[in-house]
Amino acid sequence: MCGIFGYTGKQSATPVILEALKSLEYRGYDSAGIAVIDGSKPISIARKKGKLSDLENYMQEVPLPDSFSGIGHTRWATHGAPSDMNAHPHTSYSGSVVVAHNGIVENHNSLRFELKSRGRNILSETDSEVIAHLLEEHISKGLSLKNAVSQVCSLLEGSQSFVAMSQYEPGVIVGVRLGNAGGLVIGFKKDEAMIASDVVALLPHTQKVAYLANRQVVQITENTITAFSLDGDEINLDVSDLSQDIESVHRGQYEHLMLKEIMDQPEALSDTIQSLVSVDPTYLNLEGIQGLDVALSKIKHVVLLGMGTSFHAALIGRCYIEKMTGLPTDVINASEFRNRQVALPPETLLVSISQSGETVDVLEAMNIAKEKGVVQITVSNSVNAQTSRVADGVIYTRAGVERGVASTKTFTTSIAALYLLALRLSEIQGHLTQEEIQAHVLDLIRVPALIEEQLQDLDNLKVLAKKISIFDHFLFLGRGNTLPIALEGALKMKEVSYIHAEGYPAGEMKHGPIALIDDSFPTFALAGKHSLRTKTSSNIEQILARNGKVFALLTEGDYELKGIVDEAIFMPETTELLEPFVATIAVQCLAYYVAYERGCEIDQPRNLAKTVTVE
Ligand code: F6R
Repeated sequence: MCGIFGYTGKQSATPVILEALKSLEYRGYDSAGIAVIDGSKPISIARKKGKLSDLENYMQEVPLPDSFSGIGHTRWATHGAPSDMNAHPHTSYSGSVVVAHNGIVENHNSLRFELKSRGRNILSETDSEVIAHLLEEHISKGLSLKNAVSQVCSLLEGSQSFVAMSQYEPGVIVGVRLGNAGGLVIGFKKDEAMIASDVVALLPHTQKVAYLANRQVVQITENTITAFSLDGDEINLDVSDLSQDIESVHRGQYEHLMLKEIMDQPEALSDTIQSLVSVDPTYLNLEGIQGLDVALSKIKHVVLLGMGTSFHAALIGRCYIEKMTGLPTDVINASEFRNRQVALPPETLLVSISQSGETVDVLEAMNIAKEKGVVQITVSNSVNAQTSRVADGVIYTRAGVERGVASTKTFTTSIAALYLLALRLSEIQGHLTQEEIQAHVLDLIRVPALIEEQLQDLDNLKVLAKKISIFDHFLFLGRGNTLPIALEGALKMKEVSYIHAEGYPAGEMKHGPIALIDDSFPTFALAGKHSLRTKTSSNIEQILARNGKVFALLTEGDYELKGIVDEAIFMPETTELLEPFVATIAVQCLAYYVAYERGCEIDQPRNLAKTVTVE
């Protein structure tokens, strides 16, 4: 939530920052702003409510002065409605300090009160502005910007990160991370330095990056990058080389990022699977959890957690773990995990799923579990992100950067990782034979090609999407392995097309939801060969008998069921455990094309942001 970027170096700062904000806009698009510093002149700021394009238009009329360092921000509003005044960067009372902030200053009301009592005029409704005033107060007592940041951090409550500049130290940008809400990553390049809330903004400039850990401060100038603890001790940053292809994060030939990322899935899955298994001979090669074998051999109970789409991946993970290991397995929504007293006996394995590795509810749940001392494995698409630092082992997916707000390729790659984790657990616990494990691995290896074929033939799906785009409500039904896909299909539909959609277990229909059914409230039934088709077909009949429309996702060749429902699309036949992959492709594409028909802003759905770093 909220994108932050800071640049200092030899290039003109404004275009560099604008470009970076474009790649961070997925984090929030309620407003955007840039502040630049030009020698000893006052700091100049441009801020605009709305999307980045509104800021760009504004800056064409009122350009910022040329400068070699500056900070920028894209906002997902938490405190104060989207407006020019609430847009970041925020300035201090004399205008000598600017701040771009992500996260929440939980005690902002009391800080605001104290600042007002000292005569400071607070202009915005945000929680963030207080930081700028506090920094100026400290700097006016003779502190450097970096020392002022450290001091002010001791006054702030809540999880957050921010970057700041001071008029008295042109060319210097200081960034800090407090807690789990929003990481900061620093980019290293000769004669330039930059800091961003996501590595994607750094990729056009450098592959050498370092992530800032909790309670670390960094000061960047064009020639130096120095990190400190909040106590002022200098620390070494762990610099890694990313080897990420910048082209892979652009839209390419596709009209929307979401479509591009749906189409990326065969490759993303193939890369993920290849990184986790060896073929010929076939064996599991999950390097990130090596060293946990003894602990995993003692596991008696598994708990999976995640949020949103990653929560749905966790539900699929449960199906895999139950089937392949026989271990009792629970799935808990990470934010609810925090609201409950979840019993975690010592032989529990906690598996968290977070593509970003930054979702605050997941991190907080992981921290609670850490205190209880259970073994933790995390599945993530972001190397070195916060979740991987908390967990004892990590399984990285290789989906490439996902920029579409609606998660697609990180979902299917996460479930591939969970499938392989379940097999490894089974291997360690001696539940399945080596032959059975190898057969399951080989089945998974075939999935990318199957999906590639599926994605080449979307004509019928597009026709169906056109027909169903006129409805305002939808029920998605699934059973067993495809219940999580019904939930995910409903989530995707809500997110990108704004159609009200609910995912339900097909058997639950009769216990209430069926009351909603009439000819304006259709059902989308996931009734593939392995989705307990016969039982689901009875539910379909019950809906049809009540004048409900039924659209269905069936296994290729199921003309019997196709003859009963109003409209059907087919998915390729695969094994029971792999049906969720092909069903996912269908519901993702359906949501995309329905949203397309309805003219929605698919890559920037209202009210959403990609990485949720606030509670
Ligand atoms: C939905 C979506 C969100 C995320 C959720 C968790 O399309 O993208 O529901 O899945 O915010 O994000 P991560 O996986 O980064 O923890």
